[in-house]
Amino acid sequence: MMFRRSVLLVLSAAAVLAFAACTATTDPMTATSPDGTLTIGVELQDGRPHYHVEADGDSLVAASPLGFELEEAPPLRDGFEVTETTQRTLDTTWTPAWGTQDTVRNHFVERTIRLRETEGPERRLDLVLRAYDDGVAFRYRWPEQNGLDSLRIASEDTQFDLTTDHTAWWIPDDYDNYEWVYRETPLSAIRDSAAAISYNSYLEEVDDGRPETTSKDDRPGTVNPPLTLRSPDADRYLALHEAALTDYSSMTLRADPETPTTLHTSLVPWPDGVKVKASVPHQTPWRVLQVADRPGGLIESHLLQNLNEPSKIEDPSWIEPMTYVGIWWGMHIDKYSWGRNGVHGATTERTKRYMDFAAEHDIDGVLVEGWNTGWETWLGGDEFNFTESYPDFDLQEVVEYGEEKGVALIGHHETGGDVPAYESQMDAAFDLYDEAGVPAIKTGYAGPIRPEGVHHHGQQMVNHYRRVVKMAAEHEIVLNVHEPVMATGIERTWPNMMTREGVRGMEYNAWDEPSPPSHDVTLPFTRMLAGPLDYTPGIFNLTPEETAPDHRVLTTLSKQLANMVVLYSPVQMAADLVENYEDEAAVEFIERVPADWSESHVLQARIGASITIARRAQDSDAWYVGTTTNEEARTLDVPLDFLDDGQTYVAHIFEDTPEADYKDNPHAYRIRRGLVTARDTIEAALARSGGQAVILEPATAAEREEYDILE
Ligand code: NOJ
Ligand code: CA
Repeated sequence: MMFRRSVLLVLSAAAVLAFAACTATTDPMTATSPDGTLTIGVELQDGRPHYHVEADGDSLVAASPLGFELEEAPPLRDGFEVTETTQRTLDTTWTPAWGTQDTVRNHFVERTIRLRETEGPERRLDLVLRAYDDGVAFRYRWPEQNGLDSLRIASEDTQFDLTTDHTAWWIPDDYDNYEWVYRETPLSAIRDSAAAISYNSYLEEVDDGRPETTSKDDRPGTVNPPLTLRSPDADRYLALHEAALTDYSSMTLRADPETPTTLHTSLVPWPDGVKVKASVPHQTPWRVLQVADRPGGLIESHLLQNLNEPSKIEDPSWIEPMTYVGIWWGMHIDKYSWGRNGVHGATTERTKRYMDFAAEHDIDGVLVEGWNTGWETWLGGDEFNFTESYPDFDLQEVVEYGEEKGVALIGHHETGGDVPAYESQMDAAFDLYDEAGVPAIKTGYAGPIRPEGVHHHGQQMVNHYRRVVKMAAEHEIVLNVHEPVMATGIERTWPNMMTREGVRGMEYNAWDEPSPPSHDVTLPFTRMLAGPLDYTPGIFNLTPEETAPDHRVLTTLSKQLANMVVLYSPVQMAADLVENYEDEAAVEFIERVPADWSESHVLQARIGASITIARRAQDSDAWYVGTTTNEEARTLDVPLDFLDDGQTYVAHIFEDTPEADYKDNPHAYRIRRGLVTARDTIEAALARSGGQAVILEPATAAEREEYDILE
């Protein structure tokens, strides 16, 4: 079931590029979106640049200061004059190597404002503003200049002065870990919220499985973007994030102690406290404000990708979306071990068994964790060897076995955070997988980064992660990165960077407090605005009593299926042990669901409560629809008006039975089938933390005979 883009050209031909000098009728300090609704502008207040954002005449961000404090140099923020402004418009479409949409329109108005200090060394700083119909963005650029050849940034002083309080969805700021449950609070309450931090000790059951963050921290009131906001009248949805994070530190957002709706940029530091070290010319990532009039609009936007450079991989034909199973959940639920200090999971024999299962069920790949030596000391002094197998695993043998069956082996590099050790072995490690014929690697950084004081989300690691992406591209290998830095749209530039974690994923349900039912209905509107997510859905045995009796997954089985559509990943896992799929009729959905899409639409959405997404499979007229809910049972209508008019489809519906319930009866599902058209509506009767997963395929003549009209 490999779906490949029929057209592999990265850039479409229909590019219209227009450069225009500013005219008397255009404000030389603003950029307005092509549809005229969004404006971002800059003004100098006593020589200090401020920016502001308006939507339909409403002020979203009041004039907010810009600038930098530098180490061993005067701040770069005051005493500026404008020397020049230019404007350009781009309207083009491009074809992603994979994605939720076949083609993406990139249409913006860009304004560059060149600033120069009026005194002293007359340093120069450019501000680049962009206005799209679905959001605005700006970045700083240091042009080549005399008197400024390097930068040591002590702080980036970009502020976001939101004009009103909002409802906010956020995770605490943490320089190393995004694996938190999202919280919903007023924006103004972030200031007084204790942020993180101890790794597993922050959950407290309150009110039917909705946990609260409780713990200490030295950076209270700071959050990790993307930060999602809803206006008081619920007529506007915003998301604050960054795009094109390259050779720079990640941005976190700190609520102002005085004005709690104002957020300050706070960059992740190097061990010596410096935030960014760079030579000039240089530029920051884009600071981005997505704007939509409904929550689904945030999800359908491609703003982050559009703010990234076109693909550097000229011929991406080797990059293929895939579904996979793996020797993985077994270790998390304690059935197997990664190393040899238990029942070793990654044996040649078991890998072949997983490959047999994958081949029988049209699944593209098998992940194998724990085949290489060093796992006995993981999290306590890492000695991973990335090329040496345990004696009961034969890499070449399993790859060849898979090749015969059309199943790829997905390799694994768990670094435990020991980046120097990994970097010293990377060449050999990639050579080995390349020569063996392994097309995809999952990497991991589960542990503190070495050397001490380096953070997962700081500039050094941003650069390390990029080195790995480039090395993987040289070997024509795609990546699934765990414990990553947050996605910022770079998959447009490096489409082999396919998916990543950066989330409290399924693994927590195996060994920690389970994630609450609202968690996976919040992720599409928060973490997933950043990019694809390796959440690893698809668990059928939701209460693994045998080996993890105190742990469980708080959803129904049907919600697990629906999440394979809702939680988009171009490398999508069906995470359970293969024996839990066998003899289970619902495995049909896993067999058939693809990982690459021609179009996607959010049909209904309430953040943290419910969502329905319809996606058309790549090179196909078949649609897949996922609907999920939080801890509330609800019945939702799914109108099928996205289907082709005049066509009859067979609907295959995998759903909760009326008796299903995530607490007492999570496994109860049924499969209904029948004929539908674009004029019909499917009812999704969802159990508490339930779901519905639907396949809609054009009916053949025989199927029109075989099936009745759907009741
Ligand atoms: C953490 C990752 O998120 C998980 O998927 C993996 O199994 C372990 N690290 C071991 O690498
Ligand atoms: Ca993880």
